[in-house]
Amino acid sequence: MSLSPVLPDGWTLVALDSVGSTNDEAARLAEAGGSEGTIVWAREQTGGRGRRGRNWASPPGNLYSSTILRPACDAARATELGFVAALAVADIVPAGRKVRVKWPNDVMVDGGKVAGILLESSIAQGGLVEHVIAGIGVNVSIAPQLPEMRYPGAALGGSVGTALELLAQSLARRLSEWRHDGFGAVREAWLAKAGPLGADVDVRLGEELVSGCFAGLDREGALLLDTAAGRRRIVSGELLGRAA
Ligand code: BTN
Repeated sequence: MSLSPVLPDGWTLVALDSVGSTNDEAARLAEAGGSEGTIVWAREQTGGRGRRGRNWASPPGNLYSSTILRPACDAARATELGFVAALAVADIVPAGRKVRVKWPNDVMVDGGKVAGILLESSIAQGGLVEHVIAGIGVNVSIAPQLPEMRYPGAALGGSVGTALELLAQSLARRLSEWRHDGFGAVREAWLAKAGPLGADVDVRLGEELVSGCFAGLDREGALLLDTAAGRRRIVSGELLGRAA
């Protein structure tokens, strides 16, 4: 493909016309020794994957990228990278648009979902992370609707090449902050871009829907929810705005 974005020092681009899932291709490269900052980017995906076993519609026109990360941390900390990636996406939203991050890893623009993040990790015996694939899909020119969600899709506008270049730069910058300042700093930055504390939300936990007030994130990135039955700490689920 004829795209030569300016990447952070030491990062490399593997550009594909069409692939099943860029996450699978990046995982294959990581297993073969691919270094941190190897980005697999495809013009389209034929089997794009979302969180919780969903499909991720991937026609040409949006950004599909998966980056190999080698964070050298314990498995328990790998989820922190989802917040790092969400901030990196939030950084590239043009000024004048209203950007919010939504637990765990979504990025919303003007009330619609503009990006999704799928982290997939390989853990060595002993619990150290071998690699994390940070799969990031950004709606650039098409805003697929998400019938299973309570909100529409949104698109960034501009070109896929520009979005890729900006995203790689901001991901490198946010990763470096995480390494130097730790998750505490990432958490603060994420909370500053999240919905207000105390907002009424619903959280989908499998088949169960739990209602409460958003009470922030704990030090491991778990969602804190104040419910009628007391505070709950939620490590896996889907935060939904309150239905009208
Ligand atoms: C979500 O459900 O919100 C996460 C969507 C993640 C989609 C991206 S697109 C690039 C990468 N390859 C995939 O198959 N999925 C991720």
